[in-house]
Amino acid sequence: MLDSIQALSQCVRQDLLPELKLESVAPHDPVVVHRVPSPWRCLGAGNYAAVFLHPDYPDQVVKVYAPGRPGIEAEVEVYRRLDDHPAFSRCYFSEAPFLLLKRLSGVTLYDCLHKGIAIPPQVIHDIDAALDYVRSRGLFPHDVHGRNVMQHEGRGLVVDVSDFLNAKPDRAWQDVKRAYWWIYRPLFLPLGLRVPYVLLDWVRAGYRLFRQLGGLGLR
Ligand SMILES: Nc1ncnc2c1ncn2[C@@H]1O[C@H](COP(=O)(O)OP(=O)(O)O)[C@@H](O)[C@H]1O
Ligand SMILES: [Mg+2]
Repeated sequence: MLDSIQALSQCVRQDLLPELKLESVAPHDPVVVHRVPSPWRCLGAGNYAAVFLHPDYPDQVVKVYAPGRPGIEAEVEVYRRLDDHPAFSRCYFSEAPFLLLKRLSGVTLYDCLHKGIAIPPQVIHDIDAALDYVRSRGLFPHDVHGRNVMQHEGRGLVVDVSDFLNAKPDRAWQDVKRAYWWIYRPLFLPLGLRVPYVLLDWVRAGYRLFRQLGGLGLR
């Protein structure tokens, strides 16, 4: 295992980083991946980083922070405090701008909505339990939304823990749950509806605006 982590980090330094082109165009939008050297594959991008897989190392992923995006040290510290728990990834190694993480197989709930993959209630319960565990480790669930949670074989996983040192109250997961029980479960789940990405992006932008207005006391 240690050998494979060393070999993978060497591969990241030599082959991935020199060829990779990442750009954070706007802090509230996902990082744009302009170029990925073969045979690496991009598994996803968030507002801070993009995540890559090398076919020779199917159990690990490489999370690379975009130039100018902060937070890598905080993410390492969160993984240290979370220790080993089945609902989360693990951090094997870090060296700015990248982290080597355990690969979580699964589909983000955001992609499930788009693809029409059913999200059973157990997934929501698992994530709730995982977030209780987060609090028990002196951390704060933060930024827990559809791109940061996944399901795999009917169980819920939390894929992004990078903001869990941030003690500022955050309602994101409460709001996801509310939408799940009031809209998704009664309507989308039984009808097997798919939601186009454009609509998901509108919801994301509308939600941010709604929260900003709320923060200003205009709600
Ligand atoms: N450990 C992992 N295993 C598999 N896919 C992952 C893993 N971590 C992240 N991803 C994918 O990469 C995307 C971006 O990663 P994320 O940690 O959310 O970045 P950011 O901190 O920029 O939001 C996720 O939405 C998910 O699709
Ligand atoms: Mg994320």
